[in-house]
Amino acid sequence: MFCKRIRVENFRNIAFADVELCKGVNILLGENAQGKTNLLESIYMTSLGKSFRQGVDRDVIRFGEEYTKIENTYFDGIRDTKVSVSLFADRRQKQIAQNGVKIRRTSDMVGGFKVVLFCPEHLSIVKDGPAERRNFLDVAISQIRPMYMRSLQRYATILKERNALIKGAEEDRAAFDSTIDLFSEQLAREAAIITGYRVRYIEQLKGHVSECFRDMTGGRETPRLEYISSSKLTESDCYDEKRCYESYLELYCSRHEREIAAESTLWGIHKDDLEIHLDDSRARIFASQGQQRSLSLALKLAEGEIIRTDGDGSYPVFLFDDVLSELDSGRRSYLLSNLDGKQVIMTSCEKKDIVAERVISVKNGNFAALEV
Ligand SMILES: Nc1ncnc2c1ncn2[C@@H]1O[C@H](COP(=O)(O)OP(=O)(O)O)[C@@H](O)[C@H]1O
Ligand SMILES: [Mg+2]
Repeated sequence: MFCKRIRVENFRNIAFADVELCKGVNILLGENAQGKTNLLESIYMTSLGKSFRQGVDRDVIRFGEEYTKIENTYFDGIRDTKVSVSLFADRRQKQIAQNGVKIRRTSDMVGGFKVVLFCPEHLSIVKDGPAERRNFLDVAISQIRPMYMRSLQRYATILKERNALIKGAEEDRAAFDSTIDLFSEQLAREAAIITGYRVRYIEQLKGHVSECFRDMTGGRETPRLEYISSSKLTESDCYDEKRCYESYLELYCSRHEREIAAESTLWGIHKDDLEIHLDDSRARIFASQGQQRSLSLALKLAEGEIIRTDGDGSYPVFLFDDVLSELDSGRRSYLLSNLDGKQVIMTSCEKKDIVAERVISVKNGNFAALEV
């Protein structure tokens, strides 16, 4: 799979751009604040339907404009496909179309054009808090399992409603008593589905992460990945949807007073973690910064390997935002020597030793291909 052309209107500091990309390595080259990350972000939005940056979706609309439109023409292995995403300043709903046919839900688009994003923040994924690792899992799984994303969306909605009900319990106990079970059942059902996807994904991830980490470091330590259920579900419960559902339901139904005191839902997949060990110790606490970075890099490359092996055998598009300058020479050359057969779109302030098929200069939101 590769992106052939990206055309954007009114996207952040880009008034208009129509950029042709090629297979292999494409570099967006320019000084700071010129629009390099913005173009990567626009490409990402045609994959996941939302930005990887903080804020609301509509923040990407160029200041003072009423809409933004992104059009991505990509080769999906068989034919060219065009996906477009438009956002409007005056409404929350975005407009998505594939080959001119309107797509109603974002989750129906996800899984079409696939990407792996790698930015400097991802280098600390091993040492950051659980939320970053959950986000890693959520993005990675969504692209290969569309039903997962839908479950996540339903879970978020039910959680919000259940939390509101818990918060209001002191004031209106009757309302709480009469409806809490319904929300608990719904939440437990989605939690069980999501947990099942997550543990199975981690199972797939393990081998790829170990292999990558071994290649990178010469194989002294062995990484081990484990799903940590904050609700103390056992590993076999996590794999068994019915048992997982029952365990969650039991928790939700037997501890109302604790949840009312805490004013929120205390158990669920929104508190779980992906724990990474090196040999027998927790990498988050005991690994050196270098090892943590190697593990993070291995996780990202493994994400791409799974998309390839789980799907039609073709790699997703890799979006590297300023990562090369963040890596030391060993990890940098490892990454650069692993790009064969992949389309990579990377941003950088300097070209240095990067071998690229296409170099595009970025200046003040304008893009121009340079001679290579
Ligand atoms: N909605 C927006 N409208 C116009 N400009 C924006 C918007 N959001 C961000 N910008 C501008 O985009 C620029 C940053 O672009 P970015 O792609 O992050 O730079 P870099 O080339 O360093 O990656 C900043 O100057 C910022 O002010
Ligand atoms: Mg940038």
